[in-house]
Amino acid sequence: MIIAQITDFHVRPPGVLAYGGIDTNAMLRNAVAAIVHLDPAPDCVIATGDLADCGLQDEYREIADVLAKLQMPVFVIPGNHDRREVMRSSLGARHRYLDQHPQFFQYVIDDFPVRLIALDTVIAGETGGEICAARETWFADALQSGDGRPTLVFMHHPPFRIGVPAMDPMMCKTASSFADLIARHPEIERIATGHYHRPIVARWAGTIGFVAPSTAHQVVLDLRESEPTRWAFEPPGFALHVYRDGVGMVSHVVPIGDFGPAREFELPSEYPGQR
Ligand SMILES: [Fe+2]
Ligand SMILES: [Fe+2]
Repeated sequence: MIIAQITDFHVRPPGVLAYGGIDTNAMLRNAVAAIVHLDPAPDCVIATGDLADCGLQDEYREIADVLAKLQMPVFVIPGNHDRREVMRSSLGARHRYLDQHPQFFQYVIDDFPVRLIALDTVIAGETGGEICAARETWFADALQSGDGRPTLVFMHHPPFRIGVPAMDPMMCKTASSFADLIARHPEIERIATGHYHRPIVARWAGTIGFVAPSTAHQVVLDLRESEPTRWAFEPPGFALHVYRDGVGMVSHVVPIGDFGPAREFELPSEYPGQR
């Protein structure tokens, strides 16, 4: 099974640039085109939040238009830049699974060899996120009903720390019982997130925490204390989470851009390892 993960589109109304200089809409189109050209095609696509930049209806209309080019099922969750009520009214008709929970965009997809569990980390009006008691209880029940089948959990805000001083304060707040719950379910292959706009991997609660790069601008890696986050046009990208029997889940980060054709390795005979 192949799961493509795209995240942090920050789409604006048509003709508007994000932050005065980023054509996030064109960059999302490039990301979707890259996924459309994949062979083999992914079985599904997960979009892990910050779909819109300001949560406007015009932005979701643009998002729906671009995502419609994907032939496989697409599963979306909100980020801190999204607005649930506008998302529901704009995208809901083509994303019925959003109705699984009355309050949060949390849902289980059982249609594939790997179970997908979406968690909604948004606190309206705040940059950081949380899994409150109600969301955690729902998650515990969702895990219970899976009978140990391999599972990918996806959420916008990472619930794990990454050791970057400017980023960790905007993580997903959880109770310690949330990490305990994860640790009791080794069938969780990954917690796939977005929010930090660059690829990051961390071990946490007995599983692997993964952050995918944005389809648009990246946040510059800065390990210094007390430095604000800044963005740059580092290569945008998406992730492919590939699950194979006997291998388990392996996650690949794929840069988006024109890097020329794939070329054969032509090695001289004196190259080490050549006969
Ligand atoms: Fe974002
Ligand atoms: Fe975010």
